[in-house]
Amino acid sequence: MYASLKSIGAYAPSRILSNFHLEEMVETSDEWIEKRTGIKERRIASAEEATSDLGVQAALKAIERAGIAKEEIDLIICATLSPDYLCMPSTACVIAGKLDINNVMAFDISAACSGFVYMLSMAKAFIESGMKKNILLIGAEKISSMIDYTDRGTCILFGDGAGAAIIGATENKNEAILDIHASADGRYGDLLITPGCGSKYPCSQETLDNKLNYIKMQGNEVYKVAVKTLTNDVIDILEKNNIDASQVDHFIPHQANFRIIEAVRAKLNFPIEKTVLTVAKYGNTSAASIPMAINDAYEEGRIKKGDLMLLDTFGGGFTWASALVRFGGQ
Ligand code: COA
Repeated sequence: MYASLKSIGAYAPSRILSNFHLEEMVETSDEWIEKRTGIKERRIASAEEATSDLGVQAALKAIERAGIAKEEIDLIICATLSPDYLCMPSTACVIAGKLDINNVMAFDISAACSGFVYMLSMAKAFIESGMKKNILLIGAEKISSMIDYTDRGTCILFGDGAGAAIIGATENKNEAILDIHASADGRYGDLLITPGCGSKYPCSQETLDNKLNYIKMQGNEVYKVAVKTLTNDVIDILEKNNIDASQVDHFIPHQANFRIIEAVRAKLNFPIEKTVLTVAKYGNTSAASIPMAINDAYEEGRIKKGDLMLLDTFGGGFTWASALVRFGGQ
């Protein structure tokens, strides 16, 4: 019995925040942002939309495309760094409530931008052990709620969105999740951090005045570690599975920065046509980034059943992960 990615869905809020809008907000330019990151615009959720609302829209699509009834779902996991509520209830529980899927295990995981691939490895274990049959995974972010729109080092990078997938069982290895590597190195935690409103610096007027509730990043350092770690990790997973880069049908990296993607792609000699790129239109949507990218390629008709996808991702923690996944959907 293997775990299989049976369907994909995504949702992007309608409001667009372009580089030109940002030019009016901070000292930056469309040219600078595009040259350094490849981002042209990102989506921003409305004041009425919470992370769970984005997740629900993505989940509905994934459930419909899997051809299952929502009552067949027996586990819901949500990866997010911008949950509806800081502690409880979890965003997975809020989503379960909104979808009216009751009496199933539901919880959030915290692995920043690596969240989707991290929970994919958990889903693989739950399915292969026989503990669960149909798992709903949601990567959802209203990351705009964590951004200081006076900080040009971060506000240009991130956007809102959600992606979802149904993971089920298959006996066919040609439709299976083949392997996942997920790892972390906590020594780099301070380079990408939301310091405030947790137990270390509880929410207070001082915390808010010092803007500790927003994402802080040492971009240059993050960039260097990301390129090195991702390249090594992708080479490692291909070698361990005896798969040559030429056998991969779709390289689907975390959409943080075009230059990071390009560095890994060039090192592995992946053709650009096999690389899925959404960074220009969505920016970095953290845990939603990979499922949104898979969904875009799926809706363009690029991904077919049995195609081999190579996923790779990197995020705060630091966390990173890569996966070899044969698409199991229709
Ligand atoms: N517009 C214009 N200038 C900017 C700017 C902006 N939005 N942000 C920074 N700058 C300036 C800096 O102040 C600096 O100016 P100085 O030389 O006068 O001091 C100069 O540009 C270079 O800054 P630096 O931070 O070295 O730029 P960079 O080439 O590293 O690009 C990032 C900055 C953030 C785009 C890049 O480091 C990056 O993408 N890092 C990875 C971040 C990431 O992906 N995080 C999420 C991981 S999941």
